[in-house]
Amino acid sequence: MPPTIRPRRLRQSAPMRRLVAETRIHPAQLVLPMFVAEGLTEPRAISSMPGQVQHTLDTAAREVERGIAAGIGGVMLFGVPQHKDAVGSGATDPDGILNRATAFLAERFGDATVIQTDLCLDEFTDHGHCGVLADDGSVDNDATLERYADMAIAQAEAGSRILGLSGMMDGQVEHVRTALDATGHQQTAILAYSAKYATALYGPFREAVDSSLTGDRKTYQQDPGNRREGLREALLDIAEGADIVMVKPAGLYLDVLADVAAASDVPVWAYQVSGEYAMVEAAAANGWIDRDRLITESLTSIVRAGADTVLTYWAIEQAEWLQARGLSTQGMPDQGLHGASGARP
Ligand code: PBG
Repeated sequence: MPPTIRPRRLRQSAPMRRLVAETRIHPAQLVLPMFVAEGLTEPRAISSMPGQVQHTLDTAAREVERGIAAGIGGVMLFGVPQHKDAVGSGATDPDGILNRATAFLAERFGDATVIQTDLCLDEFTDHGHCGVLADDGSVDNDATLERYADMAIAQAEAGSRILGLSGMMDGQVEHVRTALDATGHQQTAILAYSAKYATALYGPFREAVDSSLTGDRKTYQQDPGNRREGLREALLDIAEGADIVMVKPAGLYLDVLADVAAASDVPVWAYQVSGEYAMVEAAAANGWIDRDRLITESLTSIVRAGADTVLTYWAIEQAEWLQARGLSTQGMPDQGLHGASGARP
C-alpha cells in the first residue's frame, strides 16, 4: 500500500516550505552583547572570539549605528575597567567605564535603540567573583545586594533602559527593583538572568573581559544537570518583579528554555554565549562546518525552543542577512529565495 499521508507534500518547494515555516527570526529579536574597554585608543581583538573586539567608545558608537541600521533590538554593554578592587568600585562610579559608555551611547542614540547593561560585579572585582567576599572568602549574598542596588542606580542614571542582572544572588531582582523605585527609576526594566548555569561555555567571555577569576562560580551559578531548578529560579524572579527572564547558555539548555517559556507570563530571552560562538567560528575556520547555515540554525533552534529574544554575538550579521533576504524566508541560507532549488521530489 502506498502511503496516503505524505508530510513531504509541504516540503516540495522553497515557497511551500516558506509558507509552512513554524519559526522565523526577526532582527528586532536579536540583541548584541558588546565589550567597551577603558583606556583603549584602538579596538582590541578577542582571540577566542574571532570577529569580536573590546571597543573604544567611538568604535562602540559605530557598532551601535550599524546595529540600528540592521534593525536589531538593542545592545547589551559590558565594561572592561583598567583598575579593579575587592568591592568593584568601578561598577558604581559614574565615571567607571561601563557607566561612561552607557551615558555616551544613551545620549547619542536616545530611543533609536535599547541600551542595556550588564549588572554584575565580576568585571570590576580583583578576585573576579560576581559579588563581594565575606571574611572566609565566600561570596556574601546580602552584602552583594547592596552593591547591586548602587550599581543599578548608577546604570539607570547613565541612561540604561534594561539592567541585566547576571550575578545569580538570591533576592537580587527584588532588591534592585526596590532601589530603582525609591530613586525615581520606575521605568528602568529588569532582565533577570534567572537560569544561569556554571558552564564551560563562558571561557571566551572571560578573555573578553580580562577576568581575574580563579576557581569557579558553582556556589551561585547552577549545576548544569538541574532542570527543575532552572524553572524555579525563573519563577522566583518573576515573583520578585523581573520584567524579562533569561536562560543562559542557550544551545545546550533548550529544555530549560522550553520549560521557562511554557510557564512564564513575562518575555523569555536566551543568551547564546561566548563558547557557543567560539565553537562555531573555530569549526568554520577549519572548514569543518557551514558557518552561515549553522549560525542561522542555532538561532532558529533557540527561538523554536521558546526564546522571544536572543542575545547573540552574531546579532548584526544575522540581521543583515535577514534584511538582504527581505525578512521573508525561513531564515535558512539554503532555503531562502536565493538558494531555493524548487526541485520536485
Ligand atoms: C557575568 C556574565 C558572564 C557572562 C555574561 N555575564 C560570565 C560569567 O558568569 O562568568 C558570559 C557571557 C558569555 O560567555 O558570552 N557578568
